[in-house]
Amino acid sequence: MSLWHTKTVWEKLARQDPYWAVLTDPDKTGNRWEISEFFATGQTTVDQDVISISQTVPGFRADRVLDFGCGVGRLTQGLAQHFQTVDGVDIAGPMIDLARRHNRYPERVNYHLNPAGDLRLFPDDHFDLIYSVISLQHIPPPLIKGYLIEFVRVCRPAGLIFFQLPATAPPSNFRFSWYPPTLVKRVKRWLLTKTTIKAEMTMNSLKTSEVLGILEGNGAKSLKVSPYYAAGDLESFSYLLQKGSGR
Ligand SMILES: C[S@@+](CC[C@H](N)C(=O)[O-])C[C@H]1O[C@@H](n2cnc3c(N)ncnc32)[C@H](O)[C@@H]1O
Repeated sequence: MSLWHTKTVWEKLARQDPYWAVLTDPDKTGNRWEISEFFATGQTTVDQDVISISQTVPGFRADRVLDFGCGVGRLTQGLAQHFQTVDGVDIAGPMIDLARRHNRYPERVNYHLNPAGDLRLFPDDHFDLIYSVISLQHIPPPLIKGYLIEFVRVCRPAGLIFFQLPATAPPSNFRFSWYPPTLVKRVKRWLLTKTTIKAEMTMNSLKTSEVLGILEGNGAKSLKVSPYYAAGDLESFSYLLQKGSGR
């Protein structure tokens, strides 16, 4: 699956049922999330993650924070309760439009549409903390790897990188694998653009050893890897890393 495919799927999901696409509670399909309840879930998640980070790195302070795969800003708004400035990036335009509409801190929270496979819109060493929860899991693994390397690049020396990622993916993701790959790509592309077929959310994963190999090979040190219960039945972990101060 390509970056183009990911973007198309998420734009469709965001137009159909954006809050459910972000948080797939079966009772909330058909635009049934109550907005304040929806954003409260984000605050709870962020509060727990910030406690977990400060237990591992007591006294850590962050002014500039990146929320990667911010969706409609559910977690970004929660991060703004703890940190001075927060930038949210997302691949889907309709998600960013909604995030801007729900932005309670327009003077210090900014949302960016980023259709690229990297984070070139930010300079090196820019953020104190990179944060990403339930977003990398929807990105094809080769692209996840590129974003992880970018996390290290845009993090300042001695800054922190915190994200969640499953270590095992459901087998259903691979059900088309026996078709010739080029034919599959063409058919999927045609279905997505030419029909009203419901866009399918896919789940992806990377083994813990692979994740740590990529990040440590690019100058970050692993501080903590813990089970993280955010991706249904899938075995999922949170990762906390610190960028080396000598890069
Ligand atoms: C399940 S939602 C989670 C949103 C947010 N992290 C939250 O928990 O509220 C996943 C988000 O990742 C975004 N996304 C998918 N691929 C992306 C990419 N390559 N770059 C940035 N965002 C991406 C989707 O558009 C979607 O908004």
